[in-house]
Amino acid sequence: MTKAPTNNAKLLAWVDDIQKLTKPARVQWCDGSQAEYDACIKELLDAGIAIPLDQSKRPGCVLFRSDPSDVARVEDRTYIASKNKADAGPTNNWIDPVELKKTMTKLYDGCMAGRTMYVIPFSMGPIGAPISKIGIEISDSPYVVINMRIMTRMGSAVLKQLGDTGEFVPCLHSVGKPLKAGEKDTKWPCAPIESKYIAHFPEERLIWSYGSGYGGNALLGKKCFALRIASVQARDEGWMAEHMLILALTSPQGKTHYVAAAFPSACGKTNLAMMLPSIPGWTVRTLGDDIAWMRVGADGRLYAVNPEAGFFGVAPGTSKKSNPNALISAAKNTIFTNCVLTDDKDVWWEDMGVPAPAKGVDWEGKEWTPDCGRKGAHANARFTAPAAQCPVIDPKWEDPAGVPISAILFGGRRPSTIPLVNEALSWEHGVFMGSSTGSETTAANIGQAGVLRRDPFAMLPFCGYHMGDYFAHWLKMGQKLGNKAPKIFFVNWFRRDAAGKFMWPGFGDNARVLKYIVERVEGKDIAQKTPIGLVPKAGALDVSGLGMSEAQVADLIAVDNEGWKKEAASIAEFYTKFGDRLPKALADELAGLNKRLAGSCGCSCG
Ligand code: GTP
Ligand code: SPV
Ligand code: MN
Repeated sequence: MTKAPTNNAKLLAWVDDIQKLTKPARVQWCDGSQAEYDACIKELLDAGIAIPLDQSKRPGCVLFRSDPSDVARVEDRTYIASKNKADAGPTNNWIDPVELKKTMTKLYDGCMAGRTMYVIPFSMGPIGAPISKIGIEISDSPYVVINMRIMTRMGSAVLKQLGDTGEFVPCLHSVGKPLKAGEKDTKWPCAPIESKYIAHFPEERLIWSYGSGYGGNALLGKKCFALRIASVQARDEGWMAEHMLILALTSPQGKTHYVAAAFPSACGKTNLAMMLPSIPGWTVRTLGDDIAWMRVGADGRLYAVNPEAGFFGVAPGTSKKSNPNALISAAKNTIFTNCVLTDDKDVWWEDMGVPAPAKGVDWEGKEWTPDCGRKGAHANARFTAPAAQCPVIDPKWEDPAGVPISAILFGGRRPSTIPLVNEALSWEHGVFMGSSTGSETTAANIGQAGVLRRDPFAMLPFCGYHMGDYFAHWLKMGQKLGNKAPKIFFVNWFRRDAAGKFMWPGFGDNARVLKYIVERVEGKDIAQKTPIGLVPKAGALDVSGLGMSEAQVADLIAVDNEGWKKEAASIAEFYTKFGDRLPKALADELAGLNKRLAGSCGCSCG
């Protein structure tokens, strides 16, 4: 064992306990250096686990193929093990923490045999910033080590910040595949689905993950810490941990507004965060693409920080046309997972906007040709790229104070009913919108894709406590923010016409909606009141050069009264889940919506 580079007694004791339990062949404390990263990659290449890419085309890049059983988060195997079942709420899986620890301790016993146990110190948020928090991940996966170095601030500087008595969130991870003496490793070790556990012990601020090596199941700083555990910390400490991108939008006049947006997994956060606006003079800069930690600043406004340092982005669909800045971010020093290997040793995926290779190797390691009838890349294939490589990274992205948020957006994949943009009538109405966010499911979770489910605040799989209490926390934050609260909007890029075609071009053209939103933030009188909220007046959306007819634009923002009555009924049904933990303000909002839809509100909205 390398000598422990810390005197933190709590950390030393925990590492010692885990070593005794998991019985690794060796222990390595990660310092976060380039040399350590390079050595890790070399080891993975030598073992035939990492797949080399042509370094003249993809400098510093490697490709991995995961096991076909281990390709996404496993929500069915994810647990919030609070002491009381009621505190996990109706939307989380729960197992009694004592029982779960017993089950998992048995699995962890000897689980690192034949492997290296890495101790990975990391900071979520810039090291030492007031909102930042430290975690220590123990993992037996070198793939996790290299990904964590990109996704977080990782290594010696974090241990220095932690000091002898600092607090950290212990994050234990194992792929769950011990090696017997002389046993040859598989390319992607993991455990079968029934022994995978992604466990959170919220009262203890503790994470135990077993059996998966993929994404949010294994990179524990991301969903497990920065959302599930942090949401509990945020509730207790009076701030917010959200599944949101953060962007800066600057007008041709040079005025900048910061916007945060919550969309469910694989619903367009990375794309919006680094989009290239299609309207002249407007620019978007990126601060984060997945998670925002937000707190009230000294001036009473809401300030957001991206706790991550990299992008774990969806590869399929990322093209020069849809998201050129993501492609540039992933041009070097990037880890690709489950993409196609081309015959000239580059990566490729569906809708990359470049011709498919004549032949290649698909994500399962099988020979692949464009006409073979199978997709080459997995739908949840990802790139892990340093945020600093994004050509439009905002100069303030590492500012410890964060940036003041002018508008909050919610959205999802909704083929019908939900208009392109709809502004909340108040903070409470905005919280109602967030709570009733729904989307067609995607490949980011193992399970059926394409079915509508409610995903409140895009946090359904990520809230570490009772969702009803989380709604109440949002309402409380609104009271704290008062008239300095950001305006709230609901957006939908995914409405389809009768032929099933997207009605809105999306991507860079979403800047048109952002422009409208900041104009509203600045108080421009361009919205009209409807039963569901404020939608753009005719002519208010800048659609110049899009070639859309007035009728087409009107269709996009039309309020479908009958559709909305069904929507309200579906929300009412969803709300019954929360029983008496549904805040009264939200029941009132639903009643208000129904009244307005029925035309019995007595105002001029209908
Ligand atoms: P996670 O990393 O899972 O949280 O996903 P994300 O929300 O960052 O999603 P991302 O931006 O990676 O987009 C996922 C998919 O949605 C990609 O295949 C995109 O091509 C597609 N997409 C993104 N924005 C738009 C849009 O404006 N219109 C349409 N039609 N598709 C979009
Ligand atoms: C998501 O599913 O929302 C992701 C990918 O951002 S993962 O890190 O796997 O959670
Ligand atoms: Mn996400």
